[in-house]
Amino acid sequence: MEKRDVLYSGKAKSVFLTDDPDLYVLQFRDDTSAFDGEKKQQLARKGMVNNRFNAFVMGKLADAGVPTHFERLLSPSESLVRRLEMIPVECVVRNVAAGSLCRRLGIEEGRELNPSTYELFLKNDALHDPMINESHAETFGWAAPHELAEMKRLTHQVNDVLQRLFLAGDMILVDYKLEFGRYNGRVVLGDEFSPDGCRIWDRKTRKKMDKDRFRQDLGDVIETYEEVGRRLGMSFD
Ligand code: C5P
Repeated sequence: MEKRDVLYSGKAKSVFLTDDPDLYVLQFRDDTSAFDGEKKQQLARKGMVNNRFNAFVMGKLADAGVPTHFERLLSPSESLVRRLEMIPVECVVRNVAAGSLCRRLGIEEGRELNPSTYELFLKNDALHDPMINESHAETFGWAAPHELAEMKRLTHQVNDVLQRLFLAGDMILVDYKLEFGRYNGRVVLGDEFSPDGCRIWDRKTRKKMDKDRFRQDLGDVIETYEEVGRRLGMSFD
């Protein structure tokens, strides 16, 4: 496999073509952004930590039967992934109230959500990723009804696996965002799972261990991401 030209460069990751039309290289950069790209910073080692973190979590999900685009680690900050036709919808699950849910509905941060909520957002920077529902997705052709059903089923399956995984490390998986794509007619998990795209709290102290450390200037961002990984059984040596 040979790495070729860059296909797309996002806020924190870049996608490269390869000599195999079915495979892409996903590069995790040290760039960090929040608030629709208004706050930006380079955080040393972030690309490496998130690449390893994502590989670890994708492996756990694959073991549990969740289809993912992840193939294998290529280098400290690069992974080989299968090319998906991405569905422009973000699926967000919340087990505990935080972030935009609290702002939108006036719910106090930290309230346990039982059952967990499931929300859809349109991936569109210019519109600031507005919340949508399944009817919008179907009417405007972003996803077909059977795909929406599969995205919801897989997102809940991911929740079962990851809630247990984080709890075993004495952490709470507060919320997270997933993205899916199509591969040979199947709905497959794409993008990444790292502390950049979820909220994780220490179970006892409720210390924030995710990108809120960057958003809220709490410090020790990458050191804390590494602590999350270590508690899940990873090593970053
Ligand atoms: O901002 P909000 O509270 O809606 O985010 C819910 C979860 O989804 C958070 O864990 C956040 O990091 C993640 N998210 C994301 N990318 C987005 C929107 C939300 O990773 N574009």
